[in-house]
Amino acid sequence: MIAWRCFCCVYPEEQPETRSENKSRDYPWEIYSLKELLQATNNFHQDNKIGEGGFGSVFWGRTSEGVEIAVKRLKTMSAKAEMEFAVEVEILGRVRHKNLLGLRGYYASEDERLIVYDYMPNHSLITHLHGQLAEDCMLDWPRRMRIAIGSAEGLAYLHHEANPHIIHRDIKASNVLIDNEFEAKVADFGFAKLIPEGVTHLTTRVKGTLGYLAPEYAMWGKVSESCDVYSFGILLLEIISAKKPIEKLPGGVKHDIVQWVTPYVQKGAFNHIADLRLKGKFNREQLKSTVMIAMKCTDSNPDNRPSMTEVVEWLDGGVGRRKKEVSYVENTAEEEDEKNKINADLKGLKWKDRV
Ligand SMILES: Nc1ncnc2c1ncn2[C@@H]1O[C@H](COP(=O)(O)OP(=O)(O)OP(=O)(O)O)[C@@H](O)[C@H]1O
Ligand SMILES: [Mg+2]
Repeated sequence: MIAWRCFCCVYPEEQPETRSENKSRDYPWEIYSLKELLQATNNFHQDNKIGEGGFGSVFWGRTSEGVEIAVKRLKTMSAKAEMEFAVEVEILGRVRHKNLLGLRGYYASEDERLIVYDYMPNHSLITHLHGQLAEDCMLDWPRRMRIAIGSAEGLAYLHHEANPHIIHRDIKASNVLIDNEFEAKVADFGFAKLIPEGVTHLTTRVKGTLGYLAPEYAMWGKVSESCDVYSFGILLLEIISAKKPIEKLPGGVKHDIVQWVTPYVQKGAFNHIADLRLKGKFNREQLKSTVMIAMKCTDSNPDNRPSMTEVVEWLDGGVGRRKKEVSYVENTAEEEDEKNKINADLKGLKWKDRV
């Protein structure tokens, strides 16, 4: 049934003038017409361009109903990938979670492949940590922690609840978008599967981005959920410190974020890890437990890494309940107990692999 529907979407006998209304169905996505998306994005005008990734460009647009959208225009793919593309989009369109970027729909023809998403007005984490909005310092500590927990929840859903289970393979700051309320939305999940063999990412042959790749994936191409857990650990360190996953030191030597953070953790100098732009306004216990969780996630041995469900539990327990995030209140005895448990659990972390 899915294949039949997809076939119709990909090879329509006649291109519909307007979007096909699919509203009465149990399919949450729309099939857009090319005309509507051209109108919405002013013919993919350069001024509408939000950015460019390894697989295509993203454009801002507004539909005839006034809804803001982001349209990803994929680089040309081979005809044989058409059916696969449609099946994948169907699957992704059914995946719904508050921390995953909603797929609104798509358009596909022989020479155009467009994916339509909700537009995220607060852009991505990368813009706030290292890009145009970095100086504005909109990410205070509670917001950072909320984004960390939200992305962990989105990822845990993909790994453990989505059917079929989805391994993201490209968790990184530009793929964590931020909505109006500064809630995280993980983007491009399952996206790598939409790309036919032969189309490689800009930065590496293995799909994914240097600096976030688990060693076993980078070296032997071994993919599993724990590769995402590793990338998530790197992302956590990045959120806390605003350091890039790989920094170039003077003299051209490259230094990864785990190498950078390890001596501070060993010395217990956690305060040095926090982004200077926070000006010391962070909860020290939360900082410590979050760093320890990140260290667990980035263990070089995938068997020692936690599952994303565990990460969510630890972040929720160690970082503090969301409702308390707005203020820096003293922890209750119950929270202290929970925190101690997390710390005891994290003590098993071994350093010898890193140094
Ligand atoms: N729905 C959206 N709303 C707002 N900005 C978006 C949206 N989708 C993508 N972007 C932004 O557009 C830019 C390009 O995204 P794109 O996913 O193509 O590339 P990338 O994330 O940098 O790399 P990759 O190709 O590995 O995913 C990124 O800065 C991304 O954060
Ligand atoms: Mg992306």
